[in-house]
Amino acid sequence: MSAPAPRPGRILIVDDEPGNVLALKPLLELAGYRDVRCTSNPARADALYAQLRPDLILLDLHMLVLDGFAVMRRLSTLIDADDYVPILVLTADADADADAAKDSRWAALEGEAADFVVEPLDHAEVVTRVANLLDVRSRHVQLRQHNETLERAVRERTAELAQTVDRLQHVEHDLRLAEEETIHRLALAAEVRDDETSRHIERMSRYCAILVARAGEGQRQRDLLRIAARMHDIGKLGIPDAILHKPGRLTAHEYEIMKGHAEIGYRILEGSKSELARAGATLAWTHHEKVDGTGYPRGLRGEQIPLEGRIAAIADVFDALTTDRVYRPAFPLPEALTTMRAGRATHFDPDLLDLFLGSLDEVLAAREGLADATVA
Ligand SMILES: [Fe+2]
Ligand SMILES: [Fe+2]
Repeated sequence: MSAPAPRPGRILIVDDEPGNVLALKPLLELAGYRDVRCTSNPARADALYAQLRPDLILLDLHMLVLDGFAVMRRLSTLIDADDYVPILVLTADADADADAAKDSRWAALEGEAADFVVEPLDHAEVVTRVANLLDVRSRHVQLRQHNETLERAVRERTAELAQTVDRLQHVEHDLRLAEEETIHRLALAAEVRDDETSRHIERMSRYCAILVARAGEGQRQRDLLRIAARMHDIGKLGIPDAILHKPGRLTAHEYEIMKGHAEIGYRILEGSKSELARAGATLAWTHHEKVDGTGYPRGLRGEQIPLEGRIAAIADVFDALTTDRVYRPAFPLPEALTTMRAGRATHFDPDLLDLFLGSLDEVLAAREGLADATVA
């Protein structure tokens, strides 16, 4: 007779009657189970479980030193909550004390036992129940492995996603820096051509940042305006040298040409995908508007002028008054402030002007740090 095909599954038999062990082990081996271990000492059951990690335990319920219930309680502390290790309970002949045997079988099933067989054992029944329980165990192991694979895949994907987000944030940060640098260099290009004091653009953008903060805008808006304000006079790139560098007062005609810098600046920057450039376009277009409608280029009134433009008008004029120009020296501070106040509600947004004058200490501190060599 040829040997039966080997069947997977590690089996542990715990029975204090050596005779039963001697009968069961060869029976299971004959059925194809090659990995069958036994003990007739129930006190060793937990140690053997920990050592062998069986897929199925055959456990005698009625043992003298330690009964099957006690063994099951010990084993339950060793088996993981999400693991399933079936226990096949061997019970005494039901006819000996029918009710007691039935009670203990139910108790076993309500506890850790997966199934039971009644002694004397029907060999075919034992082999069938063993095969069934090992089949359930095998499906459980497969499911568990599948879940672990899925969890690992989810963990890996999550980590990859976190890395991608991190990379994108770096890219976004670098792009933002590149964008700021481009704008800074563009502003420098205009500054090089302009005879206005060299740090006008820097001071003016600081004043804008102070005022926009006082107006209650958040950090993002402050940063946006601070950087975009550098571009308010970018349109001067399009003004002829003879007018831009004229030492004296401009004629009416020259002044009309000079006023064109607001619209030229807007045309240079409009329609950009860059939020900074778009804010710069708004600033360039609106920083010479006046709230009474007498400004240029469009004669906008009050809140028709965007907040950026109303803020820039105050910052720009204050810096122009308090610094030397090619055609006149700087006004002393009290005189400059009188001129600013005179423009309240005609040239300047009255609320913003009040906020600006209310933060004069901060404005003057910024001015101090960015003084031209020529500033008095
Ligand atoms: Fe301007
Ligand atoms: Fe300016």
